[in-house]
Amino acid sequence: MTVSHQPVLVKEVLEHLAGPSVRRVVDGTVGFGGHAGALLRRLPEAELLGLDRDADALAAAAVALAEFGPRVHLQRHAFAEMAEAVHGLGWDRVDAILLDIGVSSPQIDTASRGFSFRQDGPLDMRMDRRQRLTASEVVNTWSEADLARVFREFGEEPKARLVARAVVARREERPWSRTGELAELINAVVGRHGQRGLPPATRCFQALRLAVNDELGQLERVLEASLDLLAPGGRLAVIAFHSLEDRIVKQFMRHEALTCVCPPGCPVCICGKVARLRPLNRKPIEATAEEVQNNPRAGSARLRVAERLPEAAPRPAGQPR
Ligand SMILES: C[S@@+](CC[C@H](N)C(=O)[O-])C[C@H]1O[C@@H](n2cnc3c(N)ncnc32)[C@H](O)[C@@H]1O
Repeated sequence: MTVSHQPVLVKEVLEHLAGPSVRRVVDGTVGFGGHAGALLRRLPEAELLGLDRDADALAAAAVALAEFGPRVHLQRHAFAEMAEAVHGLGWDRVDAILLDIGVSSPQIDTASRGFSFRQDGPLDMRMDRRQRLTASEVVNTWSEADLARVFREFGEEPKARLVARAVVARREERPWSRTGELAELINAVVGRHGQRGLPPATRCFQALRLAVNDELGQLERVLEASLDLLAPGGRLAVIAFHSLEDRIVKQFMRHEALTCVCPPGCPVCICGKVARLRPLNRKPIEATAEEVQNNPRAGSARLRVAERLPEAAPRPAGQPR
């Protein structure tokens, strides 16, 4: 099967990240190299470090970005390990970081990767197939309470407890091994309509994928790491595809823009917090109707961008707020 991935919000990413003085870029989710190629083309003097935890994606990126020769450095890393990768290249600070988080179309569309409830495949869902934890291990060994928590917290599935109970009851007869049979059971428990017109198994499959790959933990760690990696004036751009991830990005950028987090009513500042980021947009940037028409995946994409502020000395305690 030929697999391809159409990058989203490319024009908007270039507008925000490809400033004239940008020389070092990290693409933490290089995938099939769509955004990376566009950035390298727009910034002829820049070098780009591309990370991905998926070996298939990196192999595809190596082909897609071959024309840029030594300007591209590709490494198999989870993006939470971005600092090690950047310092390993001998770089200290970088001018731009891009994260286009989630799964790629080829990951979803390749049945043997086990991400999809639309095509039958093994219950795998690992982005990095060197990892031990698979979706099969989660549904066959995690307790009913843990499964319910995963479906509720990562899938926002209103029937999380019912689904967890049904998953555990069925595995006592026969262990789970295929996405098709799991999707069938979830469809039966959740009901025909699911939420917001989504197929019923959507939320629980998303939840399992987030759990298997520790996707929210990865995101929290890379956001924190980006603060030490970005040069003053450097920019962080994050594209998220669902509300849980977008909320983490929004709250992080808002928190890092605050100069004081003292409790309300505190007459003087005692927290000494300094602002480290300046968010560039109050609302997330969304794809145009035209882009969504050409690439329906872009419909749920939300881009947020923030600029690293210069290092400020901690404010002495006791200053007016
Ligand atoms: C939406 S795709 C990125 C597509 C890419 N921007 C392009 O233009 O082709 C997301 C990619 O991020 C990778 N990925 C997701 N989470 C990751 C993580 N924590 N660390 C490294 N790569 C990750 C996935 O393997 C996938 O290839």
